[in-house]
Amino acid sequence: MTHEPVFKLEEVLALERQIWQAIVERNGDALAELFDDEYIEIMLEGKRVLKPDAVGESPQIDEIESYVILAPQIRALGESSVLLNYHLTLDGKCRGIPIQPRDRWATSIWHNRAGEWTCMFFQQSHFEHGVVATVNLPTATLDTHNVEAGVVEITPMQTKHVPQVLDLWNQTEGLILTFSDNEHDRSGYFVDNAEMSQVALAEGKVVGAVLCGCDGRRGYLHHLAVAENYRRKGIGSALVDACLAQLARVGILQCNLFVIDDNAAGRKFCEKQGWSEWPTIRLLSRRFNKIGP
Ligand SMILES: CC(C)(COP(=O)(O)OP(=O)(O)OC[C@H]1O[C@@H](n2cnc3c(N)ncnc32)[C@H](O)[C@@H]1OP(=O)(O)O)[C@@H](O)C(=O)NCCC(=O)NCCS
Repeated sequence: MTHEPVFKLEEVLALERQIWQAIVERNGDALAELFDDEYIEIMLEGKRVLKPDAVGESPQIDEIESYVILAPQIRALGESSVLLNYHLTLDGKCRGIPIQPRDRWATSIWHNRAGEWTCMFFQQSHFEHGVVATVNLPTATLDTHNVEAGVVEITPMQTKHVPQVLDLWNQTEGLILTFSDNEHDRSGYFVDNAEMSQVALAEGKVVGAVLCGCDGRRGYLHHLAVAENYRRKGIGSALVDACLAQLARVGILQCNLFVIDDNAAGRKFCEKQGWSEWPTIRLLSRRFNKIGP
């Protein structure tokens, strides 16, 4: 009887990270060990490279400072091979030129020969910035909410979403909107913090939103809101996760958010998500008029 092997995502990811680590360290010997003799690579610009060139060239031309692997998926290809696909973000240079685009899809195929894993294939493909997550709304949970079953998409906020986002915030309890929550300022905020703020869309309609930005050191979430009919289905959590994934892409691994003291439900949500209060810090704020010429 043959047994289909169970490939564990973490094991395959650990192999893939060895390759990226070798590229970061410009270690051609390590790459030669990890790449199969029959290794084929298809680069983003469409060029095909075989093992000798891949091993020889990468340490010469790549200056990768950091890489982030997001949303990995694996698929078994028969008994001894596995396909790994993920969203890859690269920072650094190639031939002295900053790597652009930073985001791409990466697909590799790993093969196991007598217990030894080698990478047979690697391909990079263009990444379309669009839906970053989905939340299913199964019929069973909808009886009391008057909401159709379907899929809610989490996607980066764009200027076209702002009017609906402002409507949602204006209808949401537990948020404090200020003078800067107008269409002009909000559009500017997420242009400056590209891809970070997120909306949840049900059939194209905004049913959740959150602003996310960073000051180069910490991330910040503002105005997380989910339309009342759509709550307790995981949409708030999915919006937060999408923001944290975007912050991680730029190397920010700590995020702050603000909850009004008497927003008990908001605080419960945050506790469930693992946010905690700084016991020794008070937030101070100063509003000022333009200073200087
Ligand atoms: C807070 C808010 C964004 C949560 O959105 P949501 O989509 O309902 O959140 P999720 O479904 O992802 O909830 C995840 C978990 O958080 C907790 N949680 C969420 N809302 C809660 C509530 N009202 N009371 C207690 N716990 C709650 C639950 O543990 C929930 O898991 P469960 O449904 O399996 O029990 C939404 O209630 C909202 O818009 N509130 C008004 C605005 C607000 O308070 N914003 C928060 C500012 S930080």
